[in-house]
Amino acid sequence: MAAEIKKIKNNFQKDLENAKNSGSLKKLKIKYLGRKSKISELFSNIPNLAKQERGYWGKELNILKNQISAAIEARLAEKNQQEERMDLTYPARLPDKGSSHILSSVTSDICLIFKELGFHIISGDEVEDEWHNFSALNIPLEHPSRDAFDTFYLDLSKKNQKSGDWLLRSHTSPSQIRMMQKLTPPLAVVSPGRVYRPDVVDATHSFMFYQIEGFAVGENLSFADLKGVLLHFAKQFFSQKVQLRFRPHFFPFTEPSAEVDVSCVICGGNQAEGEGRCSVCKGKGWLEILGCGMIHPNVLEACGIDSNKYQGFAFGMGVDRIVMQKYQINDIRLFYENDLNFLKQFPI
Ligand code: PHE
Repeated sequence: MAAEIKKIKNNFQKDLENAKNSGSLKKLKIKYLGRKSKISELFSNIPNLAKQERGYWGKELNILKNQISAAIEARLAEKNQQEERMDLTYPARLPDKGSSHILSSVTSDICLIFKELGFHIISGDEVEDEWHNFSALNIPLEHPSRDAFDTFYLDLSKKNQKSGDWLLRSHTSPSQIRMMQKLTPPLAVVSPGRVYRPDVVDATHSFMFYQIEGFAVGENLSFADLKGVLLHFAKQFFSQKVQLRFRPHFFPFTEPSAEVDVSCVICGGNQAEGEGRCSVCKGKGWLEILGCGMIHPNVLEACGIDSNKYQGFAFGMGVDRIVMQKYQINDIRLFYENDLNFLKQFPI
């Protein structure tokens, strides 16, 4: 009997090692614990043993049976966890659906508001020449933004182009020039797109970001028209409750010029300095959203438009900054890292 038990133990050990999946473990259960197993056979043989030995071997066989059963159960539990259990009734995994990037969807939301006012949506080119990006916009040769440190100039010498003539546009304002050259007033256009500046990349600066340019040219256009258009935009985009603040500013291509702030979209301008101050406007109550002004007569003339007859207004806003304010995002780099955990947080 002792030899038989030892043999079963050894065989079982080998079989257990070779059992690769839960199926073969279940077979082992039948082989070692089933009705036709060796152990069953030994149990049924007990009445044939000498009377004083029956109790002892009965106990030994029971111990062996329990050990084998426990070993199989433990291994089964392990395997079940590892193995992918196939449930044919389980709903299929849907493929990941793509959606617009938050910067694209906000850009089209903004453009739509202007479209409803009669503006045309036109995209410009990202590669521009110096004349359209600077000179025609009344930006003098000595202006710091024309410096090689502030603009990406393209080396096109191999393409028989004079180097320095071409650049990656540093703002969307050259769209004004291209459209004013092409169209006759009255005209109203919004022009969204990417712009490039060799900034040091940090939480609020990127070498590439998004702007939306807007402008209108016609007879008898005044600063009041500009204010009306921008207030309508702000109320539609942020909320009916917002107010605008126009701060005098300077841009070479507009005169007069202003920077425009919107009353804080988070605290409404009610959370002053000190403890508990609003973290979005830093207690100031206002958020800067765009630059604007009346198109400078020199710019109209550069495009062949009679500045005595026509006036125009223009504005330019940074989409990244507006989205950051609206959704309280504190790092511009998040927009460009393609991290789905970030991108999926926005309503489509
Ligand atoms: N082009 C300006 C900028 O990039 C914004 C602007 C556009 C200002 C139109 C006035 C009018 O900062």
